[in-house]
Amino acid sequence: MSKEIILDDYAFLVSETDEKGIINFANDDFCKIAGYDLDELIRTNHNIVRHQDMPKIAFKQLWDTIKQGKTWDGYVKNKCRNGDYYWVYATVYPFQSYDGNNGYLSCRRKASREEIEVHEALYKKLKKEEI
Ligand SMILES: Cc1cc2nc3c(=O)[nH]c(=O)nc-3n(C[C@H](O)[C@H](O)[C@H](O)COP(=O)(O)O)c2cc1C
Repeated sequence: MSKEIILDDYAFLVSETDEKGIINFANDDFCKIAGYDLDELIRTNHNIVRHQDMPKIAFKQLWDTIKQGKTWDGYVKNKCRNGDYYWVYATVYPFQSYDGNNGYLSCRRKASREEIEVHEALYKKLKKEEI
């Protein structure tokens, strides 16, 4: 059975991708909670942590927003390497890497129990509408 990993109050999960969503960097909190070493994440598609309960529309809105140069924020349920899961509130920004290439940066904090309950129900409904 998969279980929910509850983030520490001060956990701050950061990842950086290129323009296609390929991971260029992830900080220690991200690696620890997702269950990967940094070198396993580098050059991997960010959907490595995608959870099957996430509706497609959430990521469509994310990509539509950031490709316009705007900031997206929202709630995401992610999957750990061992199948467990964790909820975050994420803010994704257009970002320029040290080498001058354009990409994106995501900063995530813990989601509150109320925020999780609201989004668990909303995403379940959106998932049903996909079928
Ligand atoms: C900076 C950045 C951070 C992202 N973080 C996540 C994440 O934490 N979890 C996730 O499932 N997708 C994340 N995505 C979206 C993925 O790129 C991808 O669109 C999503 O996982 C859906 O996968 P799919 O397009 O293969 O269905 C992120 C994208 C960007 C640009």
